[in-house]
Amino acid sequence: MASLEVPLANPRYSPVHISADAYYRIPPRVLYKTYPVYAPGREPAGYQDWLRQQAPVIAFDPARLHSREDWIKAGELVFNAPTSFSPVFFSAADLRDTAFFKETGMPVAKDGTIPFARWVIRRKGEVELGSMGCNTCHTRVLPDGTVVPGAQGNNPGDREGARMLRRAAQVMDPAKVLARMAGFARQFEMPWLPDDPNRRARAMSLDELIAAGEAIPPGVTARANTSMFLPPQIPDLIRVRERRYLDHTGLIRHRAIADLMRYSSLSQDMFAYDRYGDLPAPRLDAGHAARYSDEQLYALALYLYSLQPPPNPNPAGELAARGQRVFARAGCGGCHTPPLYTNNKLIPVEGFMPPAADRARFDILEVRVGTDPRYALETHKGTGYYKVPSLKGLWYRGPLEHNGSVATLEDWFDPARLRAGYVPTGFKSYNGQAHPVPGHRFGLSLSADDKAALIAFLRTL
Ligand code: HEC
Ligand code: HEC
Repeated sequence: MASLEVPLANPRYSPVHISADAYYRIPPRVLYKTYPVYAPGREPAGYQDWLRQQAPVIAFDPARLHSREDWIKAGELVFNAPTSFSPVFFSAADLRDTAFFKETGMPVAKDGTIPFARWVIRRKGEVELGSMGCNTCHTRVLPDGTVVPGAQGNNPGDREGARMLRRAAQVMDPAKVLARMAGFARQFEMPWLPDDPNRRARAMSLDELIAAGEAIPPGVTARANTSMFLPPQIPDLIRVRERRYLDHTGLIRHRAIADLMRYSSLSQDMFAYDRYGDLPAPRLDAGHAARYSDEQLYALALYLYSLQPPPNPNPAGELAARGQRVFARAGCGGCHTPPLYTNNKLIPVEGFMPPAADRARFDILEVRVGTDPRYALETHKGTGYYKVPSLKGLWYRGPLEHNGSVATLEDWFDPARLRAGYVPTGFKSYNGQAHPVPGHRFGLSLSADDKAALIAFLRTL
């Protein structure tokens, strides 16, 4: 643990985690058998009655795991296991309401299921909706309804959450809803920053706070330790094994499978107990007081390592071959080095000077790419760096860039994005303002033909 993390840009405020002792005193999650959720009108006849008759079954039992395949299958169960049984992005009633799907755009799989949530039986006769497992954010439904576990998710979670608040404000005292929202916003504050952008939430009306949630498109989300105003792109977990740093800011090192296990526990549960510098420690019961067992984390990590991309429909023909030559000529491979299409290095952002200690310990490439530095400086994950992302799987994911501000590859290579007055095609910002998407000028001045070839090549990766 001591060498797991890259220090924050201001290392005095790097997170301090709870002790191993305190950690192992938290009871591990009991993972019950779960059942698919169907979109309205797609449920098999009598399904709910059948569910009500099911007895609770403990589904994760390490004593029954023998082969590597057993562990991977069990890891899939952990990936899909809910960690919350109260509505976070949506309620059980929402998922049975066609208006919800129309208004939020939540995608439905080919077979009528909703892969972002599960029904769970923890007590006989009681069918609970569970969510906030890894699947809620890290599952993508392709336009043809194919479900791709691990890919950049496209559940419009923050929009769903915003809709829930809007409706709550109609039936509840709006002051109570505002207080709940303000509490949510407060977790992102960084009191040690002289000009913490997260503080602005304190002065916002309920309407403005809800609008901030609505501004966040699918594929981007205000996860714990990120920011409502600077939410990050949800990364693709397929081929995560090839990456040496986790998170856009490279906060967590990935030296071996145990680091991925530590990452999963920290980001899902333990962040709630972190202390930052001399700021008061949170109360130990402040979080949801649960953790994954070591066995669950191991199975989960093996499952993540086993994930495969969907078959790529983009032809590796003449155009793509030309694009590959453009890629080489434009020097993309210096950072997005084949065969991984990343050199696995950290790149310092504008306004951050890597300390000598970092240079000795981490793989740093001292060039400046010039993308929006705020996520790397003004969030709890802000190390002062962005890692070089892999370009694999670009054809099935988006929006792009660490902040998801760019919807497509065409937009990424469009020089118009550098200009004032540009309206980003992905995440726009909470107040919808037009603003440039600066930096990463590579490829912007290519001819239209070369650009089309380059993009065709990138879509084959
Ligand atoms: C609420 C949505 C949400 C949930 C739930 C969630 N994640 Fe994530 N995950 C994110 C976001 C957003 C990021 C990007 C954070 C960043 O870059 O700073 C991320 C990043 C990651 C990364 C880093 C990958 C990389 O290449 O940088 C891993 C690994 C990961 N998540 C695994 C998991 C696992 C395993 C679970 C379940 C135990 C999980 N996540 C649950 C939203 C979520
Ligand atoms: C000096 C290193 C460097 C070079 C050279 C470089 N890139 Fe990048 N690239 C990066 C970094 C760093 C990011 C992430 C920036 C961010 O998210 O703020 C990135 C992001 C991207 C993304 C978005 C990926 C995603 O998952 O969101 C694409 C696409 C991309 N680069 C393609 C290219 C191509 C094509 C070239 C050559 C024309 C190129 N890059 C040259 C460092 C580089």
